Amino acid sequence: MATEQETRPTEVTMEEIVALCKRRGFVFPSSEIYGGLGSTYDYGHYGVLLKNNVKAEWWRAMLQERDDIVALDSAILQHPRVWEASGHLEGFTDPLVQCLGKCKKRWREDHLREAVEAEGGDPDAELRCPQCGGELSEPRQFNLMFETHVGPVADEGSTVYLRPETAQGIFINFKNVLSFARKKPPFGIAQVGKSFRNEITPGNFIFRTREFEQMEMEYFVPPAEAQKWHQHWMAERERWYTELGIRPDHLRVRAHGEDELSHYSSATSDIEYLFPIGWSELEGIADRGDFDLTQHAKFSGEKLEYFDQQTKERYVPHVIEPAAGADRATLAFLVDSYEVEEVEGRQRTVLRLHPRLAPVKVAVLPLVSKDGLPEKAREIFQDLRRRLPTEFDEGGSIGKRYRRQDEIGTPWGITVDHQTMDDDTVTLRDRDSLEQVRVPIEGLGDELVGRLEAPWRTPKLD
Ligand code: GAP
Repeated sequence: MATEQETRPTEVTMEEIVALCKRRGFVFPSSEIYGGLGSTYDYGHYGVLLKNNVKAEWWRAMLQERDDIVALDSAILQHPRVWEASGHLEGFTDPLVQCLGKCKKRWREDHLREAVEAEGGDPDAELRCPQCGGELSEPRQFNLMFETHVGPVADEGSTVYLRPETAQGIFINFKNVLSFARKKPPFGIAQVGKSFRNEITPGNFIFRTREFEQMEMEYFVPPAEAQKWHQHWMAERERWYTELGIRPDHLRVRAHGEDELSHYSSATSDIEYLFPIGWSELEGIADRGDFDLTQHAKFSGEKLEYFDQQTKERYVPHVIEPAAGADRATLAFLVDSYEVEEVEGRQRTVLRLHPRLAPVKVAVLPLVSKDGLPEKAREIFQDLRRRLPTEFDEGGSIGKRYRRQDEIGTPWGITVDHQTMDDDTVTLRDRDSLEQVRVPIEGLGDELVGRLEAPWRTPKLD
């Protein structure tokens, strides 16, 4: 089994991705003017657009491309009994050890043992602090849920939790959805939203943070069909990543061992991606059985089951759950598309993002800031922006402006030059092939929309 320590054979490093994200305003450390708050990040303009596109593609795959899934947006704060029923109050814990030596740092015991094993050591041997070599405390179970209080008095009765997964909001709405959605198993409920976990060892940029966005879908199936649908969703989710440009050899599926399974799961497979930190979980696809519906039925007293009018059969559906992270997927798309290459003796950094993910689809650039070119370019920009996310940029040399667009992954560039003023044509530059063709302004919008909708595969596979 590969571990997070396994080295990555490609050249891109996390530092390069972090630097690009900062330089181009995708993502930056949160609360920076106050010295930052560990492992929290803010998304800037292009980061927001990119992550929105990731989420939109997920919704497209769940809702637009099929008709057996409905959407939901449940509250972050839920009744505290939800987390008793789900097992999170008792079971959502990590083993924490603290250095008793100099540095007093806290570590996840299971991560330390994995690291020892990866280096060929005995994982059951006594552990020492990796930072200062100090003795470590006995492990203590640490609950990952953030606690807060509703109302003005912070007492035991007012305690609520920030949800650590979006999934429970779906289970507690099963009955509501069933009564209006006119669906029968197999059918799914999909949700995108923030989740919170007080991770002991967050890190690796937006890979593991304490506040993050999940894209989860709970697929309710007749119990006998659970295995079939588990296989189906593993294949579907892998297809989603590769169709959006992730190279297939940077993805793999890994089944969880018995000792890794969450308290609710009878089988889970992770889709792993070859991040700069090594193979790591990108998305988990779990068979949750009837655990959640049965638990909520028991704790709430409500019947959470399906009655099949045709067969007169009453049963608690089993659940197959593809659970992805919007931030982690965004990171994977950034890493996989990042490339530094030499063009005519100069280095260019380019994000070869799938055009549907690219924050900006087309940039309109006047060659020079005179002779009426900016005004003409602005007219074209005004026209195109009605149909596609478009940017107008007239500052600096044309080379510099192209480099900027390459770094944010803009697939097409339109240059307005002196010839444009004579014959109403422009050059259309392709980010990946660097090919420039002369095209008429008339029909430019149709041409670009056509390109956006055409099948695409990353040029890195050629
Ligand atoms: N409902 C099941 C569930 O939450 P999970 O494997 O704990 O399963 C699903 O989380 C996905 O959410 C992960 O595969 C990952 O992409 C994302 N995720 C989980 N914890 C995260 C964190 N601390 N920071 C960023 N993303 C996280």
